[in-house]
Amino acid sequence: MLRPPPRPTIFAPDIPTRGPPPAARSTHAYPLLRSHRRDLIGQSVTLCGWADVARNLGGVCFIDLRDHEGIVQVVAEPGQAVFARAAEVGYEDCVRITGTVRARHSVNDKLRSGQVEIVAEAIEILNKADKLPFYAHENPGEDIRLKYRYLDIRRPQMQAMLRKRSALVRALRQQLDAAGFQDIETPILTKATPEGARDYLVPSRVHGGEFFALPQSPQLFKQLLMMAGMDRYYQIARCFRDEDLRADRQPEFTQLDMEFAFVEERDVQDFVEDMITRVFRDVQGVELPTPFPRLSYAEAMRRFGSDKPDLRIDLELVDIADQVKACGFKVFTDWATHADGRVVALRAPEAGFSRKQIDDYAAHCAKYGAKGLAWLRVDDLAKGREGINSPIAKFLDDATLDAIVAAVGAGNGDIVFFGAGPYKTVCDFMGALRLKLGRDLGRVSNTWAPLWVTDFPMFEYDEEAARYVALHHPFTAPSIDDVADLRANARLALSRGYDMVLNGNEIGGGSIRIHRPDMQAAVFELLGIGAEEAQAKFGFLLEALRYGAPPHGGIAFGIDRIAALMAGTESIRDVIAFPKTASAQCLLTDAPSPIAEAQLKELHVRTID
Ligand code: AMO
Ligand code: AMP
Repeated sequence: MLRPPPRPTIFAPDIPTRGPPPAARSTHAYPLLRSHRRDLIGQSVTLCGWADVARNLGGVCFIDLRDHEGIVQVVAEPGQAVFARAAEVGYEDCVRITGTVRARHSVNDKLRSGQVEIVAEAIEILNKADKLPFYAHENPGEDIRLKYRYLDIRRPQMQAMLRKRSALVRALRQQLDAAGFQDIETPILTKATPEGARDYLVPSRVHGGEFFALPQSPQLFKQLLMMAGMDRYYQIARCFRDEDLRADRQPEFTQLDMEFAFVEERDVQDFVEDMITRVFRDVQGVELPTPFPRLSYAEAMRRFGSDKPDLRIDLELVDIADQVKACGFKVFTDWATHADGRVVALRAPEAGFSRKQIDDYAAHCAKYGAKGLAWLRVDDLAKGREGINSPIAKFLDDATLDAIVAAVGAGNGDIVFFGAGPYKTVCDFMGALRLKLGRDLGRVSNTWAPLWVTDFPMFEYDEEAARYVALHHPFTAPSIDDVADLRANARLALSRGYDMVLNGNEIGGGSIRIHRPDMQAAVFELLGIGAEEAQAKFGFLLEALRYGAPPHGGIAFGIDRIAALMAGTESIRDVIAFPKTASAQCLLTDAPSPIAEAQLKELHVRTID
């Protein structure tokens, strides 16, 4: 059996060592050293790593030697031959040190190896380090971290995050391999698959003027694999999307992509709910609450203003259209009586905000499309109108005020915020306000809150483009099975899509797919993709559906997002070894970069300014 070569390490995993005794191995092999292995005291070891700190205290020289497992203290004592060499060791020099393990005089509880130290006998400086652009112990800005990512990753917290990600992927693979899924690679040079973002294009040298697209996801290939009879597929797949970036979005990111033949929603959902629960148990030591709650899209929007609600926050939106539809405040009455309008209230318990703070919340909401943010503060409920402070109180009669206060259950010290406007806009800004209030008021419980969001609308009407767009992707099956029925009721149709949400993050999304060519053609048509365009772009799919395609469905999880949640970081960049900046650049390699004229010519590409 092939074994990986022995690696130098300060702390090796708890694997019993096999093979020849240390003396017979190369210099890279040595007895394993762990903090609790006081039994190594007295033994000779050879360790490799970096000088985290080197302190020459005149009398004694200390080196904190760091490798991928941790830090151990090395001591060079005067009178020893190695003392002079130890004094030469500088910050981040790469070194190999041989010495004897001994018990430390003063145990360092902060180090896993804190009970022991190495008395150096030989020190080899494998490579000197120049003065570094930053000290690992400082908290350098992200730009400099990304430019010198290889130094950034030397930091233990970065090492821990990348290891967490590796453990996550390993645990997922183990489960899927055991469950009979086949790991199959799909092309990177391919044809555009619409997932709602712009494509990254690759010009073809051989076919002048023609382009490959990098996959936004392996969606169509995994469907074709089901039609090909592979039954259960998975892939740790790189996806490319040229979209506006945020903390939870990268232009290239990694999915755990899965597809199952002959399934319905619950088959996929139950399997992956179990898979995610196990992975959190094994990798994170966390027991997710099962079964995951299920919310329809409509209910999630109504109660939380979001299709990925953070259920750790105990604040909810309350519709008050009925209470305000006849009040004197025109903004409220207009939207309360508008077919596509919404008026909601959100109680901020015991908030006690200043006017400046309230203005800041209004500014936050404005970023999400709010035209204003009305509010009221309950100073003394017993005093009725006199006990309420609000710039809009003058528009509201006593009965309306009472009804609003009762609807949200406001008490003394509470502030109630109001949002009015088009349904979607109100959801967006009041949903964003709910998240911000939850954090600011310390109302995010220290738990894990997974859920399923289901029953999405099949289509959204895009007013600007004057056509329907798919809420998931155009291959998602509608809940209406009959083509004529779907055409007649497109606006109301729900899809067979589902998202898995964890702590307010969409960590996975999938659906049951269309497996009949007539339905796929009808959905393309409803999406404004004419027969000719559909043929040009997806002719291969429409044809494949004609040769006995099985019913199928699947899901894809955002590996970066799950890893970030597990690592306890806000940004997925922290769990990607070499991520792009928010403006889609790689600061380390300076990509993207201009290309020589000759190469462009070869690719039949001309740039315009
Ligand atoms: P979807 O577009 O919902 O579905 O993507 C699936 C999951 O991938 C993650 N994700 C991202 N992570 C980081 N950066 C991004 N730019 C990014 N975009 C998406 C999210 C999301 O839930 N083909 C379908 C899946 C299917 O239907 O089976 C798809 O790609 O966590
Ligand atoms: P105005 O009469 O426009 O000065 O608004 C009075 C109050 O209502 C202010 O506190 C505004 O912030 C608020 N307001 C205005 N438009 C909206 C809206 N669409 N939703 C919620 N509050 C609003």
